[in-house]
Amino acid sequence: MWLTNVVALCLLVATTTTNGDKKLLADKSASLALNLYHNMVKEKDLENILISPVVVASSLGLVALGGKASTASQVKTVLSADEVKDEQLHASLAELLAEVSNSTARNVTWKISNRLYGPSSVNFADSFIKSSKKHYNYEHSKINFRDKRSAIKSINEWASKSTDGKLPEVTKDVDKTDGAMIVNAMFFKPHWDEQFHHKLVDNRGFLVSPSFTVSVPMMHRTGIYSFHEDTKNSLYLLSMPLAHKMSSMIFIMPYHVEPLDRLEKLLTPQQLDTWLGSLEEKAVAISLPKVSMEVSHNLQKHLGELGLTEAVDKTKADLSNITGKKDLYLANVFHASAMEWDTEGNPFDASIFNTDKLKNPKLFYADHPFIFLVKDNKTNSILFIGRLVRPKGDKVRDEL
Ligand SMILES: *[C@@H]1O[C@H](CO)[C@@H](O)[C@H](O)[C@H]1NC(C)=O
Ligand SMILES: *[C@@H]1O[C@H](CO)[C@@H](O)[C@H](O)[C@H]1NC(C)=O
Ligand SMILES: *[C@@H]1O[C@H](CO)[C@@H](O)[C@H](O)[C@H]1NC(C)=O
Ligand SMILES: *[C@@H]1O[C@H](CO)[C@@H](O)[C@H](O)[C@H]1NC(C)=O
Repeated sequence: MWLTNVVALCLLVATTTTNGDKKLLADKSASLALNLYHNMVKEKDLENILISPVVVASSLGLVALGGKASTASQVKTVLSADEVKDEQLHASLAELLAEVSNSTARNVTWKISNRLYGPSSVNFADSFIKSSKKHYNYEHSKINFRDKRSAIKSINEWASKSTDGKLPEVTKDVDKTDGAMIVNAMFFKPHWDEQFHHKLVDNRGFLVSPSFTVSVPMMHRTGIYSFHEDTKNSLYLLSMPLAHKMSSMIFIMPYHVEPLDRLEKLLTPQQLDTWLGSLEEKAVAISLPKVSMEVSHNLQKHLGELGLTEAVDKTKADLSNITGKKDLYLANVFHASAMEWDTEGNPFDASIFNTDKLKNPKLFYADHPFIFLVKDNKTNSILFIGRLVRPKGDKVRDEL
């Protein structure tokens, strides 16, 4: 998605694209988001995942802005944007992010704060400070890791403040303290196109695994939604539009509680297309956990594995557009988000209640781990991809 759209936007500016081009580009971008996701699931003991591919793309744009020679051109390759001119790449990424995170137009809360930290020994070039603010809305800060505890505390305090307290912590520790550090701190709150009834919330068990259940508040509503039951693969697909149908949240959930790796193996761009193409409007009775999830990932290693090998390598990186000297490499990319699943949304049409339209609804009872995506309806980009494996909640005692 991410790249795709970058390129798609460039093309849209330059010429009119045919539907064939757009589809091809959309396929390319989705495969990037999925590549990152697949790379991350290899991490052992990782439970919840929450990443915003468009924000990752804009962080890569920042690296391109600060990089020179092959360090910079590698970024474009990772973004599948080799052919795109620098200025156009930066402008398109900025335009894409402004469009999809516009809370006025979308009525969805999405706060994004970005900071580039550098060791206290380096000086940021004025031209870089200006251009990275302009395109990517980055702040800059120097940090002294000699007092590591207070350095980490100040990062966490900044993240908490810039998300109104929704994201209290980015990291407990930092391994590599000798390079540049990107921090994305986000708060996202979906605003449903049709809200849940605020009073229809009760406590239920969520099965993290067959033998481990936590208690979570669940919200419930019945309505007409795009739904698909893949009987061959034993899973449900549900798409719930967010405000004004400008984006939607797509759920992929196995019939029963099981580790998600079986579904993750199925998750290719082609399969995703097939699934989305099979969605049909149906009456669905939905139950979703009403929880907030806070997830922080260090993407440095994963981006390296996706081909960004130079920027992350101390001996090879050339980020001299940042400081004017070849004295920096990308040591950390903290990508941290809080997502709040709540009942809020636009008013629903109550006239269909008690009519035949809602008779015999399909059940989508999300009481066990699932994968989700937030997909933009206009640019086709993937705003978030993640999985909810372990929501916050107290362990439910076994009652045998
Ligand atoms: C956000 O959307 C509103 C309303 O559609 C528009 O007036 C405004 O210019 C947009 N802002 C950005 C940053 O795109
Ligand atoms: C945005 O959401 C608020 C809060 O739910 C609601 O009152 C308002 O009508 C919505 N605005 C638009 C333009 O949909
Ligand atoms: C995308 O937008 C169109 C036009 O507003 C709307 O008809 C359609 O239902 C939307 N799709 C989704 C998945 O929300
Ligand atoms: C990066 O360096 C190149 C080559 O020196 C220069 O042309 C370009 O303007 C610089 N970019 C920024 C953002 O300073």
